[in-house]
Amino acid sequence: MAERKLAVVTGASSGIGAMFARKLAARGYDLLLVARREDRLRSLAVELSEMYHVDSDVMVADLAADADRERVAERIRSASNLGLLVNNAGFGTLGFFADSDLESQLQMHRLHVLAAMHLTHAALTNLIPRGEGGVINVSSVAAFGQSAGSVSYCATKGWMNDFTSALHAELEVQKSPVKVQALCPGFTLSEFHDTAAIDRSPIPQSLWMTADFVVSESLRGFDEGKLIVIPGWRYKLIVMFMKALPGWALRKMSAKGAERYRKQKV
Ligand SMILES: NC(=O)c1ccc[n+]([C@@H]2O[C@H](COP(=O)([O-])OP(=O)(O)OC[C@H]3O[C@@H](n4cnc5c(N)ncnc54)[C@H](OP(=O)(O)O)[C@@H]3O)[C@@H](O)[C@H]2O)c1
Repeated sequence: MAERKLAVVTGASSGIGAMFARKLAARGYDLLLVARREDRLRSLAVELSEMYHVDSDVMVADLAADADRERVAERIRSASNLGLLVNNAGFGTLGFFADSDLESQLQMHRLHVLAAMHLTHAALTNLIPRGEGGVINVSSVAAFGQSAGSVSYCATKGWMNDFTSALHAELEVQKSPVKVQALCPGFTLSEFHDTAAIDRSPIPQSLWMTADFVVSESLRGFDEGKLIVIPGWRYKLIVMFMKALPGWALRKMSAKGAERYRKQKV
């Protein structure tokens, strides 16, 4: 019998990451679940092993910390059955850059940029010689914007899209069957907005998506070898619009949004 492939999912303790873990287990992958909240990871691992008869392992790691990141990277590099890495762990902050505490911005860059880069390097050094599998980087529609009040979030997700797109070009040059994807969701129901203390109420109902839908779209795109996946027709239109706008108009729109947010705060 063929060996089951291993999927490594970061940020698997809630939201989109937990949904990736469920859907990948249903596809017959063994799982390595990574995040900081051990209790969440362990109960998900038990649930997946029982429901899908796959091996689910847990690594408790703060991916913004160098030593933890390297520990996870080493596990990825040395997994002989590695099939997929999902760089999903992430968080948002709200507020003007110079007003926010520097540590939260450093943390975000370490997680969205350094961890995604470090773990992708580990995965590709394993997958490219074997000629299989892939990496999904969970980015955001924010990658296409430059929002006032969300400077580091947009910048790090923009980096993620550029990084993934350039990797895609390299893999094509190497004629490698290894796939990479930047998944760019819009508003998705998860713990994301609670963690960032973002009020969900001003956001229209029609813009909310479930993690189930977002992950299904990602995996469908992965099967088709799609580089950029934007779940939902509304967000595809929004991104088309954002791309068509000149930079000054995009920034003006974002400044208006930020102004509304500032007024709400006072
Ligand atoms: N929800 C949205 O509207 C939305 C839209 C676009 C993109 N996204 C992106 O989707 C991804 C998943 O977010 P989500 O919506 O599922 O939010 P979530 O429910 O808050 O999940 C975030 C996950 O990241 C993990 N994480 C955070 N900091 C970490 C760290 N230092 N080390 C290891 N793990 C860490 C958290 O686990 P622990 O706290 O247990 O460590 C949690 O499992 C993020 O990259 C986010 O930017 C979300």
